[in-house]
Amino acid sequence: MRVLVAAVVVFGLAACVDDLRPMASAPSDGTAEQMALVEDGLAIAEANCASCHAIGEAGESPNPKAPLFRALLSRYRADMLETELAEGMRVAHEPMPQFKFEPDAAAALVAYIKSVQTRDPGQALAEQRCARCHAIGREGTSPYPGAQPFRKFGQRWWRGQLRDALRAGILVEHDRADARVPPMKLSDAEIDALLGYLDRIATREDPAPKGP
Ligand code: HEC
Ligand code: HEC
Repeated sequence: MRVLVAAVVVFGLAACVDDLRPMASAPSDGTAEQMALVEDGLAIAEANCASCHAIGEAGESPNPKAPLFRALLSRYRADMLETELAEGMRVAHEPMPQFKFEPDAAAALVAYIKSVQTRDPGQALAEQRCARCHAIGREGTSPYPGAQPFRKFGQRWWRGQLRDALRAGILVEHDRADARVPPMKLSDAEIDALLGYLDRIATREDPAPKGP
């Protein structure tokens, strides 16, 4: 069953996506039907989304403001995204075109988006939003001098404090650093994902933030 023709879309940017072709990974429990759905979703994403979003398992978004598809479901519930895609996305920003998909196409797109979610949404988030300035791995120095490597956060922060700070925003300090920092409006799910990621990069020398 092909659902490609079902997309009713108007969009302004010409997509040139051949070199961005992601690897469509089969879902681990993939039935043939599921795989066909994912493939349809990939084709829809290539045609309609890839001019702005990184739609695959790696790579940056052509439009740096457009979230990586592989991290999308750390912010969105899959069923809500599917509903929005079918009812017309009410995303409140003008660079994002208005989409309205047939239910089949919306389901295919979401099946595809599910298939590219990285196992670690916190890492994907850190890569997209923080790695420009902070060292986010187990080693390495920060690209922006003065930005603390993520693995050192545990030396200065209790977990609860860090959660509160991320929730409230660290904008004041960031502003003082005279750096162009995107507003750090993180959802609770994203903060949880980030804290989980900090746990995973922690070593004995640089333990993760702990405590309340
Ligand atoms: C012309 C560029 C463009 C295209 C094409 C595009 N998007 Fe976006 N999209 C954006 C930008 C920019 C943002 C982030 C806007 C912001 O945060 O203010 C975004 C945000 C989103 C978000 C998150 C919204 C939120 O509030 O967090 C979703 C979900 C999304 N896009 C899905 C899609 C899907 C699915 C497609 C293809 C069917 C698509 N986009 C095509 C530019 C685009
Ligand atoms: C454009 C550069 C930039 C980006 C992007 C950025 N930061 Fe920062 N961040 C800094 C700088 C510079 C500081 C140090 C500011 C200071 O001490 O006044 C900092 C400080 C911090 C601190 C406080 C560290 C400490 O020990 O005091 C935290 C926590 C933090 N950033 C988290 C994040 C997270 C999470 C992201 C991604 C969602 C992020 N930052 C994105 C530049 C950046």
